[in-house]
Amino acid sequence: MSDKKRIVSGMRPTGPLHLGHYYGVIANWIKLQEEYDCYFFVADWHALTSEYANPTKIKDFVPGLVKDWVAAGLDPEKCVIFQQSMVKEHAELHLLLSMTTPLGWLERCPTYKEQKTELVQKELNTYGFLGYPVLMATDILMYKPCAVPVGKDQLPHLELTREIARRFNHLNKTELLPEPEDMLTEESKLLGLDGRKMSKSYGNSIMLSEPMDELMPKLRGMKTDENRLRKNDPGDPKVCNLYPYHKLMTDPAKLPEIQEGCRNATWGCVDCKKLLMKSMEEFLTPLHERRAACTDERVQEILEAGNKKARIVAQQTMEEIREVMNFNF
Ligand code: TRP
Repeated sequence: MSDKKRIVSGMRPTGPLHLGHYYGVIANWIKLQEEYDCYFFVADWHALTSEYANPTKIKDFVPGLVKDWVAAGLDPEKCVIFQQSMVKEHAELHLLLSMTTPLGWLERCPTYKEQKTELVQKELNTYGFLGYPVLMATDILMYKPCAVPVGKDQLPHLELTREIARRFNHLNKTELLPEPEDMLTEESKLLGLDGRKMSKSYGNSIMLSEPMDELMPKLRGMKTDENRLRKNDPGDPKVCNLYPYHKLMTDPAKLPEIQEGCRNATWGCVDCKKLLMKSMEEFLTPLHERRAACTDERVQEILEAGNKKARIVAQQTMEEIREVMNFNF
């Protein structure tokens, strides 16, 4: 047993990861794996809540997600990497918790209300979609973590998780399920190439697995300071869409020079993009190498080992749950 505090987090396998995911989520996980007993999982059942018509697509994205994680620097020796649907205990606990979760809690959930109006075409009027937060509470409570690193958008789900735990404890006169704290992940400062939020559906992203020869064409079309129409117009890094990339990826010693060159128009956006191209190459090269080394067989190995470790904890929790419910036959 590790004496480190435990945390749990998951991601849905809905496509390849981009730099926004890296700076928004994964860079944080990589830090956390040094300090905590981490359980990171592929939330494939959660992906089904919206993609139920295309389970095969989800299946194809699972190994890709694990490869992206390992490429970015998650180390299966330091954290447990597993797949939700391969730890069947999640299904049992989800069922039990669904019995005690009032419908009103779920109907009031802001993510439910938003998505329902946004994704009308997808027909999300399902039992499973309404129950998304119950499944998420299950993923979390199963491992009794002290905290859950998530973005702001997931905080309502975490609040519900605590309510679900509290109700379970109250009904069963137990303290079995601790209420996990928020561990808020700072949002990524990177916007997409077009200045909107970086998102796969906008086609404005740079993937962690982006082929090197596609970087420059993408950067060429990238929005910079829109007030800077000609090279000899002065620019302003503060409002430039590209400058935040330098802040994250370029040697900090070079930043003052970039700022000055932009402000007094001695340095054009094309120069800036060429330098960014170099920084990105340096950043992505080791990721691409680790990705190449992470074969399908290696992914299988990582998941099998991680699923096994997760199952040990999950089986233990389920025994305790059945016991406090007096439902152990
Ligand atoms: N809902 C999360 C998201 O969309 C993914 C997720 C599922 C999760 N189960 C979880 C995150 C448990 C943290 C803990 O990002």
